[in-house]
Amino acid sequence: MNIKKIIVTALFALVFTGVSWGAEGMWIPLFLKKLNETEMKSLGMKISAEDIYSVNKSSLKDAVVLFGGGCTGEVVSPNGLLFTNHHCGYSVIAAHSTIEDNILQNGFWAKNRSEEKINPSLSVTFIKRIEDVTKDALKGVTDKMPINERNKKIKENLASIKKNAKVEAWQNVEIKPFFKDNQYFMFVRETYSDVRLVGCPPVSVGKYGSETDNWVWPRHTGDFSVFRIYADKNNRPAAPSADNVPYRPDHFFPISLNGVKENDFTLVFGFPGTTNEYLPAIALEQTANHRNPVKVGMRDIALKIWGENMNANDTIKLLYSNRYVSAANAWKKWQGESLGLNKTNAVNKKKEYEKAFTATLTGKKEALKELLPKLYTQYKTLLPYGIAYDAMAEFSSLCDAYKLTNVLNNYERMDEKDSLYASVKEFLKKSALKLISAKTVNIDKKVFASLSDFYYKNIPSEFLPQQVKQNYQNNGNNWNAVAQTLYSSPLMTEKGIEDLFSKSQKDVVKALNDDIMVSFFNSINKTFYQEVLPNYKVCNDSINFLMKKYMKAQMEAFPQKAFFPDANLTLRASYGQVKGMQARDGIYYIPQTYLDGVIEKYIPGDKEYDLPAKVLELYKAKDYGRYGENGKLPVCFIATNHTTGGNSGSPAINANGELIGLNFDRLWEGTMSDLNYDPSICRNIMVDIRYVLWLMDKVGGAGYLLDEMKISESKK
Ligand code: ARG
Ligand code: ASP
Repeated sequence: MNIKKIIVTALFALVFTGVSWGAEGMWIPLFLKKLNETEMKSLGMKISAEDIYSVNKSSLKDAVVLFGGGCTGEVVSPNGLLFTNHHCGYSVIAAHSTIEDNILQNGFWAKNRSEEKINPSLSVTFIKRIEDVTKDALKGVTDKMPINERNKKIKENLASIKKNAKVEAWQNVEIKPFFKDNQYFMFVRETYSDVRLVGCPPVSVGKYGSETDNWVWPRHTGDFSVFRIYADKNNRPAAPSADNVPYRPDHFFPISLNGVKENDFTLVFGFPGTTNEYLPAIALEQTANHRNPVKVGMRDIALKIWGENMNANDTIKLLYSNRYVSAANAWKKWQGESLGLNKTNAVNKKKEYEKAFTATLTGKKEALKELLPKLYTQYKTLLPYGIAYDAMAEFSSLCDAYKLTNVLNNYERMDEKDSLYASVKEFLKKSALKLISAKTVNIDKKVFASLSDFYYKNIPSEFLPQQVKQNYQNNGNNWNAVAQTLYSSPLMTEKGIEDLFSKSQKDVVKALNDDIMVSFFNSINKTFYQEVLPNYKVCNDSINFLMKKYMKAQMEAFPQKAFFPDANLTLRASYGQVKGMQARDGIYYIPQTYLDGVIEKYIPGDKEYDLPAKVLELYKAKDYGRYGENGKLPVCFIATNHTTGGNSGSPAINANGELIGLNFDRLWEGTMSDLNYDPSICRNIMVDIRYVLWLMDKVGGAGYLLDEMKISESKK
């Protein structure tokens, strides 16, 4: 070994050691044999890579589906029975709920196939084959081409790959870029659009602990729901129809009741949505300390005001609940992400990595050496635009009056000659009226005043429109007074909206121009579209282009390291082990929770911690049947699998390829795994399959569904 190699190897060791539980990574199934099988076996896996993904025989991949637009599900019977999370089935369950038959509240179990509920806009997608199409995708493409020309050429190439792909009439093709556009893979897929709801526990169980427990360990949520895939008589995809029959899968997951213990091998196989693991340190620093805090700060304000009003009034609670839940989910995650990045020194670790990377470049092309400095420069330029971008995105989604302005802007842009004019106008009018509802307008006024104050203090001053400053000054530097003025706009009343929508298009333009509220928000819009967005885009485009090169350079600099591509909602295998977590000094998270913990949290009648009587009754009787373990009923467990949004509903699989749980969340402390996985704190959360089956069988009285599953309890 020459001296340069020794230095590089030493640096490599420095950067890539640390605790390794073989946990980081969301791996492409196609390469498990080459890249991962040895390590997976060393962690205890008994099956082979070929058992997980094969095109020549049935394998685990044949039992895993992309569920709807952004979750995962798994087939658990020869009759197409499917498990996913309760929060993944939530909208479907809610859509079937009525006051008289509130299946969201009470739970639901179809007693036979005719009771299974059809869902017109739900589909699931299987992956039948994955192919590396990089060569054809990049044919005739060079780095020297201008970005537009390059993108155009790639688009043409992909279209021709799609056109020439050998697929059956009932299959579809998707091609996605990997490793920051350095590689392209084609997915041959089968999409089934007759997916019926078979059952779910009551929401009190399926969402137990709701927002307070979301992202939190110890967890006690029975986050599952059950569906069935239907196909035509030839087992092919078909639109929902009474003629369809249950889908016969090439593989379904056998279920193990043997449970888990610390250090057991686990595999999560599903569709992770988005990660960004290869960014330079400066990007992590900006996310943790500048961009997340702005987004979190703005949501703090809205969530607090909404929450207080929801607690005080049931009608308001209902009106805001969806909005609250979805805003709170990311809000909580971003806080955990910033905390984790700082706590694990992620920025300094990345800087060390960058030093090691740079050290490998001795004697290499100057262009490579310039990559990181150029990325740093671009990120520095991006930051003020990024903050202004985030702040405006939050403002315009959290404040109804801002939303109203945008709805009215759309109305203003309409063309009376357009054939859809009347129907779109009606739709916009309805949307506008909703946004000024007397029930919510005073809440929104408070949200506006506090958000404006935050906005004024936190966005770079060059992006503060003159009009915003003027309004503030004219109202004695008091945002409540500004709110009072703006919300007295006639457009904040039903009559004002009715009037506006009865005007001719020409008069609408004038009315909006003259309106005090609309022109306030439009001054922010104007600055955004003229000064923020164009520059933001320019920076982002060059960051993306540099990242493509930097990604390639990283892979070349460390040929010993197996790289995994960032998540992009394609099928991935994440493997790890059941493992507790040292949360703080003196606090160790044990990796398994039990029904006793569910009962400990129980508060009768509470909105987050109420429980169905049957659960309490069976707990009292300790009636756990074959699902219990040493007199206790396991509920949730954690492991080191690298997962993200989209992995919800993914099968948690043991060393033998059996289903032991459903993935549904991560530990708050480790949500930075989207940017920088660290095995010391990153954990995924799964609901134990024994809790799922107990809830179906003993609580739900749907034991007959278990008869079609293959359940083993061999080692007990
Ligand atoms: N945090 C999980 C995810 O990101 C679960 C969200 C649904 N549950 C809830 N209580 N909000 O999707
Ligand atoms: N709860 C997420 C999901 O719905 C999973 C996660 O972010 O860990 O996909």
